[in-house]
Amino acid sequence: MKAWVLEGSRPLCGAIRAAGAKNAVLPMMAAAILSDRPVVLRRAPRLRDVRTMTGLLRRLGACVEHSGDELIVDAGRINGWSAPWAAVRRMRAGFCVLGPLLARFGRAVVPLPGGCRLGDRPIDLHLAGLRALGAQIEIQSGCVIAAARRLRGAGVMMSGRFGPSVTGTAQLLCAAVAAEGETTIRGAAREPEIVDLARLLSAMGAKIEGAGEATIRIEGVAGLGGAEHRVIADRIEAATFLFAAAVTGGDVLVEDADPAHLEAPLAALTAAGCRVEVRRSGIRLVGPSGAAAGFSHIPEPSCGTIRVEPVGAPTGLPGSAGHGNRMGAPARFPGSVGDVPRMGATAGLPGSAESDFERAGGVVRNWAGGRLAPVSIGTRPYPGFPTDLQAPWTALMAVAAGRSRIVDEVFPQRFAHAAELRRLGAMIRVEGNAAEVVGPARLEGAPVRATDLRAGAALVLAALAARGRTTIFGVAHIERGYERLAEKLRSLGAQLAVESALPRNSVQIGLP
Ligand code: EPZ
Repeated sequence: MKAWVLEGSRPLCGAIRAAGAKNAVLPMMAAAILSDRPVVLRRAPRLRDVRTMTGLLRRLGACVEHSGDELIVDAGRINGWSAPWAAVRRMRAGFCVLGPLLARFGRAVVPLPGGCRLGDRPIDLHLAGLRALGAQIEIQSGCVIAAARRLRGAGVMMSGRFGPSVTGTAQLLCAAVAAEGETTIRGAAREPEIVDLARLLSAMGAKIEGAGEATIRIEGVAGLGGAEHRVIADRIEAATFLFAAAVTGGDVLVEDADPAHLEAPLAALTAAGCRVEVRRSGIRLVGPSGAAAGFSHIPEPSCGTIRVEPVGAPTGLPGSAGHGNRMGAPARFPGSVGDVPRMGATAGLPGSAESDFERAGGVVRNWAGGRLAPVSIGTRPYPGFPTDLQAPWTALMAVAAGRSRIVDEVFPQRFAHAAELRRLGAMIRVEGNAAEVVGPARLEGAPVRATDLRAGAALVLAALAARGRTTIFGVAHIERGYERLAEKLRSLGAQLAVESALPRNSVQIGLP
């Protein structure tokens, strides 16, 4: 059983380059089904999920080649419309082939999706949208069986109780581009990955307006051609590395990361006392030195720090005069849809961090006294704080100096990571869709298990901050969505060994 063994409490320093976005490239691979010409995707990340989608497309008869960071999908010889059960069960994005298969062949058989266990994950919005375009859909033997002589444009609602559906929006985009007439998707997901998918579809000849907004209009076209496209950087991967710098008191530059895709997390990091520098080459973050629970002294990160011009002590930021975990008005992060929940000590922000962030030209002085300040967050659909960073943020708040509350409004049950973080000493209580975190916990290494992709990332962050050795099992979950994570972390100074055949009960627990 493969495991990662991490020795914590070292500041991570250096630069890494963000890979292409997993949640953009997967629907793009499905979209290639729409054309009998090759689709070339550059900066395609080498991930387990990309390999799963590659296998799925090959089973349908497509040719898929991934050399370097260039992925070519040639669906010219696809000869089937029934997606393999194992691939779709393993990876929810596999369900995104339904719309393109239906659009191209007039029929499709796709298993009900699997993927990360984040709580209930219905597909009612997907099916209602395709039915609105004229598809007959039934569910039999665990599969969605769909048929449509010709899809017709219609008005579609893509938002439910928990906001827009990201893959639902991708699914309907890929069906509507080949439907007869105009389709309007209301309540559409606004994620950058959806905008990027729309860019690819437009390059293939589709007519799409409003991608990135809540209403998207599509004029169906008769046929779609091939295209070449460079996938956007993975914002969740980029943020995960910035979180790693924050939690270890390090200094990391994530090249190619786009700050415009990370406004809410960057504002939260700034509020937590990190220095954030936006550069043409990417985003640099210097964590409050000594942030990790393991530090006895407060070292300056060994790789030097960015020159920070005093920007005048923005009142209310952690560590500045007058800050004391003010209960004040809930902090509003740029772009977040709602208020940050009031419970626990919330680092008050003067209005919005973006004013300080902008005023400082992207360089905000670190006002924390060497520890992360507690910052409560509530996840929201984009441009709010992403649910995919909720678990990693919980790991950060475990070592912050105070109480914070973390609410997941998108996946209310997405807290499987809490129990595993508690094994490392985190003080977390989950109630409903919220986690109450009390820090700073003195995290100590222990054996833990990743239960899903982002929970695994949270365990890696906590292990980096913990004293001693942590063994992380279930790394296959992590490898689904992070390209060469172990290698990149080592390049930043992490002490991480990959144990390929560690029997489950072999972990030596160093008892005092
Ligand atoms: C996408 O999942 C991402 N996956 C997820 O990332 C991400 O967490 C999620 O969007 C939210 O941002 C991919 O893009 C491959 P949703 P998706 O449909 O599309 C409810 C990761 O770690 N809903 O946007 O499956 C749903 O239950 C993964 O990279 C319905 O009610 O999520 C949830 O509460 C994990 N009916 C909310 O909407 C539906 O038909 C958002 O789900 C569909 C969804």
